[in-house]
Amino acid sequence: MTLTETLLAFAYLITGVLFIIGLKFLSSPAHARTGNTLAAVGMLIGVVATGFDTHIITWPLIVIGAVIGAPIGYFGAMRVKMTAMPQMVALFNGAGGGAAALVSCGEFLRILSGDQSSDASTLVPIILSTIIGSISFAGSLVAFAKLQELMTGRPITYAGQQIVNGLIALTIVGLSVALVLGYLTPPVFGGLVAAALILGVLAVLPIGGADMPVVISLLNSFTGVAVAITGFVLNNTVLIISGTLVGASGTLLTMLMAKAMNRSIGNVLFGAFGAAPASAGGAASAGKQTSVRTASIEDVATMCAYARSVVIAPGYGMAVAQAQHAVRELSANLEKRGVDVQFAIHPVAGRMPGHMNVLLAEANVPYSQLHEMDEINPQFEHCDVALVIGANDVTNPAARNVPSSPIYGMPILDVDKAKAVIVFKRSMATGFAGIDNPLFENPKTSMLFGDAKDTVTKLAQAVNTV
Ligand code: TAP
Repeated sequence: MTLTETLLAFAYLITGVLFIIGLKFLSSPAHARTGNTLAAVGMLIGVVATGFDTHIITWPLIVIGAVIGAPIGYFGAMRVKMTAMPQMVALFNGAGGGAAALVSCGEFLRILSGDQSSDASTLVPIILSTIIGSISFAGSLVAFAKLQELMTGRPITYAGQQIVNGLIALTIVGLSVALVLGYLTPPVFGGLVAAALILGVLAVLPIGGADMPVVISLLNSFTGVAVAITGFVLNNTVLIISGTLVGASGTLLTMLMAKAMNRSIGNVLFGAFGAAPASAGGAASAGKQTSVRTASIEDVATMCAYARSVVIAPGYGMAVAQAQHAVRELSANLEKRGVDVQFAIHPVAGRMPGHMNVLLAEANVPYSQLHEMDEINPQFEHCDVALVIGANDVTNPAARNVPSSPIYGMPILDVDKAKAVIVFKRSMATGFAGIDNPLFENPKTSMLFGDAKDTVTKLAQAVNTV
């Protein structure tokens, strides 16, 4: 081993360690920023070290790539709205999968020119990385288009869809076998790339826009696997480590999200959730007569101001209304009056993992006030007032006691166990799952209709004047 090779291996080792520590830190909101910085430093070391590895690439190409890519990444990340974060992640993920596939295409061209071995040990990783990276690239672009509303967010289904997808998958297997058997020609390899891209598009089309965070997480794990395999092709340790970390964390996140939604991964991928109008699935409420009680800002202000403990359960509506700062103000004003205020965070509240944590952290709500579902649920029965702000499905008691409900079995926030419940939303409309919420008709519940930012802002002022 030369000195350069030793230093390179050492730099990659530091990169890998920083990625692992960074990931560990990301598991707590208190350390997440530090974790992100550590992982970014690791990435910088990895990129600079790669620049010194003349087997891979030359400095000018890295500089050109950085000059084009860094401003796109920087300004994209600075300008993106929090609600548009899932599609941004989809784009970044697609770029990763596409890069892995392109590297493998490059290696295939090197095989054709005789610069690279065509042994099965080289060829098989090239083929796998090309397939998985292409599927991830094309699927992520469709996910982006759905979330950005460049196309319909509803599942696109047609008769024989699974059969068509199955035939394309078989074509991919057939072309891969042909390559391994020695038919190393551009048309065969090009056909493989095209078939994988088409499969990526077709596999994501039948998935509803609101299921996209789960799909993006799954595609993210695909990208990780593609990158790790590319690492074997290029004999590059840092790609193997980082790809494996992304693959493993993406898989775990996908499984956790599916579990928190009480859906199997198969149901997310093939269930076409939301394809039918909401009324078909389960007692959707449009136009249905319901007996709910309403409350005024003054009523709620009085209840909260004289409560001993208030638990706030935020959901997707808080994100849409951008009400997190008003919620923070409300919480601070109540605390000034001696009320104990805690936040109940459901794992799939909102539309992306950690959605509520990110918004509340942005509004400077102390981490010590944020409680995960398992931790806060036993506290609801001691709570005087539960404020459900733009949340719906994650508080729906039908998940506990209506076996025919599509969300039956999904763990929920037990807000209905509080002494009084106030629901902040604009109407009686349903949430993501498209089903009625019996919580709204519970005698303990009062509805405070209106845009959450508006109602919570007024409430935050009103509690000061009670
Ligand atoms: P939802 O059940 O989707 O309900 C959100 C509620 O917010 C709606 O009923 C809506 O009612 C209200 N709302 C919308 N805009 C509002 C505004 N400006 N002001 C006040 N209220 C507003 O949300 P949730 O309880 O957070 O549950 C999340 C759902 O998304 C779950 O079903 C979950 O499985 C699914 N999901 C989550 C994820 C992740 S990772 N978080 C990923 C995929 C799917 P109005 O229209 O009447 O105002």
